Amino acid sequence: DLSTQIAGTQLDSYLMNASGPKCTTWDELHTIALSNSAAVVTKSCTIESREGNPEPRYQNLPLGSIQSMGLPNLGYKAYLEMVPQLKALGKPVIVSVSGFSVEDNIEMVTAFQNSDVDLIEVNFSCPNIPGKAQVAYDFEQTDQALAAITALGNKPIGIKLAPYFDMSHFIAVANIIKKYPVKFITCINSIGNTLVIDPHTEQPIIKPKGGFGGLCGDYIKPIGLANVRAFRELLDDDVQIIGVGGIKTGIDAFEYLLAGADAVQIATCFEKEGEACFERIESELAEFMQSKNYQCIADAKGKLKPL
Ligand code: DHB
Repeated sequence: DLSTQIAGTQLDSYLMNASGPKCTTWDELHTIALSNSAAVVTKSCTIESREGNPEPRYQNLPLGSIQSMGLPNLGYKAYLEMVPQLKALGKPVIVSVSGFSVEDNIEMVTAFQNSDVDLIEVNFSCPNIPGKAQVAYDFEQTDQALAAITALGNKPIGIKLAPYFDMSHFIAVANIIKKYPVKFITCINSIGNTLVIDPHTEQPIIKPKGGFGGLCGDYIKPIGLANVRAFRELLDDDVQIIGVGGIKTGIDAFEYLLAGADAVQIATCFEKEGEACFERIESELAEFMQSKNYQCIADAKGKLKPL
C-alpha cells in the first residue's frame, strides 16, 4: 500500500508529477490526470501569461537535463478556470504559483484559496528569470513572503525550496518556516545557474542567460536527499515534505522515503519517459518494499539507519 497524504489531502500513491515538465496546457494536465500520478501538479504560474525564454531552453544530458524555461505558462486565471474540470477527473489538484513579487503571490494565492484546489505550492526558487533573485536564497524576503501568503485562507500552503548546501542555511530556513503555518515544503528545485558547454561548438547548450540554467535529474539526487533529510530533522512533524530531484526508479523513491519524504515528485524522468513513468516507478517501489517486508509508507518513512 503506497498511499500517503499531504496536509490532509489523501494520495493514492507516493508519486506525482513535479511542477515543470508537461503540465502547462489543458491537454498536458489532462494526460497527468489520467496517468498513475497521485495528483495533478500545474506548471508554476504568473499573473500574466508568458512565452518564456528563447530556445533552445531545455536539453537532455546523459544523467539528467538542464533548463532555463523562463516560466512559460498560461497565466493564473487560465489555471483557476481549469480547476473544476481537473478536479472532475478525480484526483487531487496542486497548483504552483510563482509571482515576481509578494503582491503577485498574494493575488494568486487569494484567488486559489477561493477555488477548489487541494493544495497551493508557492515557488520560492525559480532560477531562470534574468535579473530576479531566487526568493529562497534571500531569507528576509522568504520571511516576509511567508508572513503574507500564509494569512490568506484555510487551504494548506506549501513552498518549493531551492537546494541548500550549508547546515547554517538549513537551520535558518527551518527557523523561518517554524514561524508560520506552512503545511508542507517541496524540496528541491533544480540547482540554479549551472553551465553545460559543448566543446565541439565551443558554445553553451541552452540560449538564455548565456547558457546558465537549472540542473536536474540524476546529478541532483544526493542534494535532494540531503535537503529532505536535513529539513525532516529540523522541522516539526506537522510540516510535511515532498521530495524531488533525480527520481527515476522505485529505489530512488525509496531512498527519499528513508530520508523522510511524505511523497515524491518526478520531473526529468517524466519529461524523458512520459506518463508511463508513474506506473513503472510505483510498481518498482512496491516490489522493493515488498522484498524488504515493508507494508506501507509509514513503515520506512524517515527510518534512515545510522552507519
Ligand atoms: C522555471 C524553472 C524553475 O526551476 C522553477 O521553479 C519555475 C520555473 C522555468 O524556467 O520556467
